[in-house]
Amino acid sequence: MIVLGIESSCDDTSASVVVDGRAVRSCVVSSQDSFHARFGGVVPEVASRAHMEVIDTVCADALERAGCMPRDIDGVAVTNGPGLVGSILVGLGFAKGFAYARGIPFLGVNHLEGHIAAAFLEADEPEFPFVALVVSGGHTHLYEVTGFFRLRLLGQTADDAAGEAFDKAAKLLGLGYPGGVAIDRLAKAGRSAAYDLPRPMLHTGDLMMSFSGLKTAIRQLLERAGGIERVSLPDLCAAFQEAVVDVLVKKSLAAVEQTNGRHLVICGGVSANSRLRDKAATVCRERGVRLTLPQFAYCTDNAAMIAAAGYHRLAAGERSALGLNSYATLGQAPS
Ligand code: KG4
Ligand code: ZN
Repeated sequence: MIVLGIESSCDDTSASVVVDGRAVRSCVVSSQDSFHARFGGVVPEVASRAHMEVIDTVCADALERAGCMPRDIDGVAVTNGPGLVGSILVGLGFAKGFAYARGIPFLGVNHLEGHIAAAFLEADEPEFPFVALVVSGGHTHLYEVTGFFRLRLLGQTADDAAGEAFDKAAKLLGLGYPGGVAIDRLAKAGRSAAYDLPRPMLHTGDLMMSFSGLKTAIRQLLERAGGIERVSLPDLCAAFQEAVVDVLVKKSLAAVEQTNGRHLVICGGVSANSRLRDKAATVCRERGVRLTLPQFAYCTDNAAMIAAAGYHRLAAGERSALGLNSYATLGQAPS
């Protein structure tokens, strides 16, 4: 089954052609980073309008690169939540029009299921059951995954998502938007032990996490030091990154232990972080836990993961009505 996936839930417009939920024939991502950088974050209306301007060319490009004509597509899968409602509507409307015109099945996909499905793309496929840490700009959730898509929530952040913490810390450190990649890059030249930052909720004994206190710790540290120019940015980035990664890895391994599991999947934008990938690999090796990380291209938002998630539901006979709406939060999004 050849599925056209469409993703527009935040600030990336993406389309992808994927065969049988695994083989990526094309994946085109048009990033709006430069539009939002001057505001220090995503401006919803700017994002919606930017999606509107490129959605047709991004989809045409994905078809062309895959060597496909519209008639070759067997089904359309599109993110319909959670995310920015106006942004989602752009991809959703286009997907509905495409499916209606072609008379093919159409399906709304939960964005978080998409991130988990990224682990099945062209990689050493995960085996159920596994624990999934979905860690992005909007979410830091631990799930037990027992099938496509049977998810049991084990724990989550009580406040900021880990990616949000990276972005807010980067803003305080004058590193621009989005901040994760910039911190990752600078941290490579820094010493994480140079600054002592808190690991909130690390020893609570449950699987809850918290990252907003870290941002406050950075702000206070900068105030005490007397400004950015008086601290070592590489050291501070390394210390911040280590604190976040420490919590993510320890809570993930605790989730694996709690579910008597042997397999961990880490996905979502922050799974592109080099220190998280290294530390998770080391700790999982020591504990005899299998680790699956998506390829870099499929960590941050992309439509290949949406096509993959959609394939498994479409193949099971699921369909969405053409009246399907866009949802901001996870609870409202139909699964
Ligand atoms: O999954 P994603 O593209 O969008 C959401 O669903 O939110 O994740 C974006 C988040 C941003 O907060 C970004 O700063 C973070 O992922 N990110 C990173 C890295 N690359 C992206 N965080 C840390 N290190 C990275 N290398
Ligand atoms: Zn995402």
